[in-house]
Amino acid sequence: LPTPGTVEFKNVTFGYPGAEAPVLSDISFTAKPGQTTAIIGSTGAGKTTLLNLIPRLYDATEGEILIGGVPLKDLGRDTISRNISAVPQRPYLFSGTIASNLRFGAQEATEEELWEALRVAQAEGFVAEREGQLDSKISQGGTNVSGGQRQRLCIARALAAKPNTYLFDDSFSALDVNTDAKLRAALAEPTKDAAVIIVAQRVSTITGADQILVLDHGEIVARGTHEQLLETSETYQEIVAS
Ligand code: CTP
Ligand code: MG
Repeated sequence: LPTPGTVEFKNVTFGYPGAEAPVLSDISFTAKPGQTTAIIGSTGAGKTTLLNLIPRLYDATEGEILIGGVPLKDLGRDTISRNISAVPQRPYLFSGTIASNLRFGAQEATEEELWEALRVAQAEGFVAEREGQLDSKISQGGTNVSGGQRQRLCIARALAAKPNTYLFDDSFSALDVNTDAKLRAALAEPTKDAAVIIVAQRVSTITGADQILVLDHGEIVARGTHEQLLETSETYQEIVAS
């Protein structure tokens, strides 16, 4: 990419094919490298849909998305996948070793780099305890590890790829509050030059974000830091209180 991955949405509207009403309306924001942009909002607000537009799982119906100033449609699929790590809401592990799962998207990563990614993702301990460690087997869908472990392995996979844009879709909610806090503190260093976009359920996950977008029925109804939103947004106050 020409420049580190600034992600810019310009008046983006999106509707699923065949649906009458758009799911996202007139979304504009800029997620800058070195900053965390958080998205919060009730279930069905359009958070996952918004994230999915960035790696082009779908294309915007109207408006434009740019990365590093280049419209998404002018970036090749390869460039997009090399530069963006997305941890989906229901992260997926496939049948194979832990190492092969982590190297998906990071084929050249050394064992040392995999361990470093696991350390940041707070997954080093349970992998070290497994027989075979990096070579231990994961069953199809990751059914032989817990939901929280699956989530952390998928975060480690995202880190191993060393992208310049990270998308975390509700990736911290299966973690206890302590692990969530430790993981986010550990993320600061490896993501310091990247644009980080986090969808969160828990307000505590995003209080430190550089900007928070409050999404409601597909629209950004408020934006600002945690402190600013506490003052200005009733919707945000309701989320905090809930
Ligand atoms: N939707 C749809 N077709 C899809 C996915 C979603 O019509 N393939 C609709 C959903 O029914 C919802 C809206 O799009 O009305 C937004 O969905 P989504 O982006 O998944 O909402 P989230 O904010 O991510 O909800 P959650 O917190 O439950 O993950
Ligand atoms: Mg979602």
